Amino acid sequence: MEEWKIPTHIAIIMDGNGRWAKKRKMPRSFGHQQGAKRLEELCRTAAEIGVKYLTVYAFSTENWTRSEDEITTLMKILRNYLADSIKKAKENNMRIRVLGDITRLDLDIQESIQRLEKVSAPNTGLNFQIALNYGSRNEMIRAVQQVVKDCQEGKIAVEELDETVFSSYLDTKGIPDPDLLIRTSGEQRLSNYLLWQCAYSEFYFPEVLWPDFDKNALKEAVRQYTARDRRFGGVYES
Ligand code: IPE
Ligand code: IPE
Ligand code: MG
Repeated sequence: MEEWKIPTHIAIIMDGNGRWAKKRKMPRSFGHQQGAKRLEELCRTAAEIGVKYLTVYAFSTENWTRSEDEITTLMKILRNYLADSIKKAKENNMRIRVLGDITRLDLDIQESIQRLEKVSAPNTGLNFQIALNYGSRNEMIRAVQQVVKDCQEGKIAVEELDETVFSSYLDTKGIPDPDLLIRTSGEQRLSNYLLWQCAYSEFYFPEVLWPDFDKNALKEAVRQYTARDRRFGGVYES
């Protein structure tokens, strides 16, 4: 692995649970359950290869348009995941944070999230972010509302607002921008995910459906990233 260039931050759009289940003539909920089971191995592998930040898209602001049944299933899976996570975060020395507007989630879920964030905050291993009721546009609007408020209250001057200050108003405050964005299932769009933060990320779109995304798939993504020449508006070195 030494010759590999390890991304500091990998962001993932976990897509394809429904199609994975359909291929097996199973309900979509089965696909979501199997998909959720991927997370622990994914976190362990990411930490093992030296990734410092991993951010996954679990539920978008647009996902509320799905059927009530499917939303209930997703929330049930989330509840179970959160209940398990305090122990898992400790075992794996992981700090867990949630991105998104959690005020629209049920109260017990909001409380679990707050507890998990607090308890896992001192952990020094992988930083694991879960985007829940997350949408980039919503995040940016909430940020702008807070900036305006702080300006009105004299906490910051309009002229002070620059890219660094604005970033500190986003849910990803203190988290470096993703180096690599992976979306599974062959779809090639951002679906309102980390629009500001992915300004210079490398994109990778494997065909594999999310419940099949195993540790080798993650390693393959990093291998492909290694082969890329990243540029920030400059020119190739060689
Ligand atoms: C991703 O899988 C999981 C969530 C969006 C919660 P999908 O449910 O979008 O699966 P497909 O895209 O229908 O296959
Ligand atoms: C994006 O996937 C959201 C998550 C993976 C949580 P979707 O499957 O909901 O996105 P669209 O609707 O196909 O763009
Ligand atoms: Mg999808």
